[in-house]
Amino acid sequence: MRDNITLINHPLLAHKISMLRDKNTGTNEFRKLVEEVSMLMGYEALRDLPLEDVEIETPIETCMSPMLAGKKLALVPILRAGLGMVGGMLTLCPTAKVGHIGMYRDEDTHIPQEYYCKLPKPIEDRLIIVMDPMTATGGSAEDAITQIKGAGGTHIKYMTIIAAPEGLERVASVHPDVQIYVAQIDRCLNADAYICPGLGDAGDRIFGTK
Ligand code: PRP
Ligand code: URA
Repeated sequence: MRDNITLINHPLLAHKISMLRDKNTGTNEFRKLVEEVSMLMGYEALRDLPLEDVEIETPIETCMSPMLAGKKLALVPILRAGLGMVGGMLTLCPTAKVGHIGMYRDEDTHIPQEYYCKLPKPIEDRLIIVMDPMTATGGSAEDAITQIKGAGGTHIKYMTIIAAPEGLERVASVHPDVQIYVAQIDRCLNADAYICPGLGDAGDRIFGTK
């Protein structure tokens, strides 16, 4: 596997993702699970956040103790399904700014069409976490990251819950400077470019639009 891909292995993630896959999991539970999975993944994806020692006065004495330092965060969900991951990440980092990139896949060509982009400014100095639960062909993530780089983003990570091997390879090779965090790599894409076994259409399952 490429150096810029981190496969996050954890029994809690595995269990929750199996529940996401289950077609009998309803919208309410599905949303909660996506949030929990995102929080667990975020814990790992933010492992290298820089720390600096600051002086803290405990009830007993004064000490030097580590707190987060350096770059501020920007969370950038790819609409719509990426929105489901925002709450979990905000639980971890409540002060993060949130940008949005709107993309939908053309049903016939499967090529992503961008319809919205609003990023926090200035974006240059922020650590940017792009989020989308599904990486199928990889086109949406590739284009979203290209868009963010075009706007000045330099330090970018990408979090995705389930990826098809070809989509993951595409994003990782086109953006070798972006560290990718993925919880499960599935078998393949079907003729409609859906991930197999996957979980179906993540946007529809989060928003109950099927
Ligand atoms: C889904 C998903 C990703 C994209 C992945 O979005 O949330 O954004 O497909 O496919 P790709 O890797 O082949 O680009 P969709 O286009 O269905 O839009 P939606 O989230 O608004 O339903
Ligand atoms: N988008 C989804 O939501 N699911 C897939 O399997 C592929 C693209």
